[in-house]
Amino acid sequence: MMERTERLSAADDGLARAAGLLRSGSLVAFPTETVYGLGGDARSDLAVAGIFEAKGRPHFNPLIVHVPDLGLARALGRMDERAERLAAAFWPGPMTLVLPVLDSTGLSPLVTAGLQSVAIRVPAHPVAQLLLRVFGGPLAAPSANPSGRISPTRADHVLQGLSGRIAAVVDGGACGVGLESTIIGLDGKATLLRPGGLTVEAIEAVLGARISQATETGRPTAPGQLASHYAPAGSVRLEATEALDGEVWIGFSDWEGDSNLNLSPTGNLVEAAASLFHVLRLADSQAGPNGRIAVAPIPEVGLGRAINDRLRRAAAPRATIP
Ligand code: TXA
Ligand code: MG
Repeated sequence: MMERTERLSAADDGLARAAGLLRSGSLVAFPTETVYGLGGDARSDLAVAGIFEAKGRPHFNPLIVHVPDLGLARALGRMDERAERLAAAFWPGPMTLVLPVLDSTGLSPLVTAGLQSVAIRVPAHPVAQLLLRVFGGPLAAPSANPSGRISPTRADHVLQGLSGRIAAVVDGGACGVGLESTIIGLDGKATLLRPGGLTVEAIEAVLGARISQATETGRPTAPGQLASHYAPAGSVRLEATEALDGEVWIGFSDWEGDSNLNLSPTGNLVEAAASLFHVLRLADSQAGPNGRIAVAPIPEVGLGRAINDRLRRAAAPRATIP
């Protein structure tokens, strides 16, 4: 364990320092438009293993590889016509494609967990873009939080969870999307592996076809699919129409309740996604370790699907996390 985690600015000197740390195999958290990522050199076994250790992840699960542009994505995964079409429409942006991995990519086998596929994303956040270019290589980057805990959308969140466990965090302010990327499997039939910051409706419109859900195909579930995930310390009750005695209320739209917490007073799902993890953290600190949180109903359309996915994991029984 290291002494202290540096908070770096997103200006040139901060990015140069971050890239230097990454080149030496150290871990640096950085902002993306979805959530803060815990970055490590995707070609270094030591760096990738360090990511699992810093997060306290129970297993070596495959990680998303971040690259600055389509050309570098094509050098890692085999992009068929569907992948090219989705990439043209949504990269850079909150979409991850799982593609057949090419030979001789130089990636650490830990990053793909020995699978024949690789998860690739081109992030849109200007700081992520700059860091990838200054570093000059692919970055493995899961969300920068201890395993099973709420994902970070601000540099302060990263430090609350990982201070002393990683070398640095680049502070780029609050993340705009607020939910992890949508993951589409394209190493076979197009499959939704994780709902996220890009709606399934938008993806289906570009593909001109419906995509199946991971559970329908019976493929092995992704780690992000652990039932209990994004968990606050207290318990969470969903689809609540009012707060019961002692519950901290998280409202949405007209479900205002007697609380200062509302994911979006106007019922805007984009705003609700962006504020979700921050509001969950605030509710968690108000409720305390054995506290109870109640959340108003969120419509199951567009980004509401990804929001409900994260809320169901936050509410799930905790048996699966250490
Ligand atoms: O928004 C995001 O995607 C964030 C930011 C930092 O970019 N990153 C993120 O990464 O959420 P990570 O590593 O936590 O997400 C990994 C997810 C897991 O659910 C994993 O199982 C899935 O991607 N995944 C990675 N490689 C895979 C593969 N080859 N096949 C199937 N799923 C894979
Ligand atoms: Mg995560």
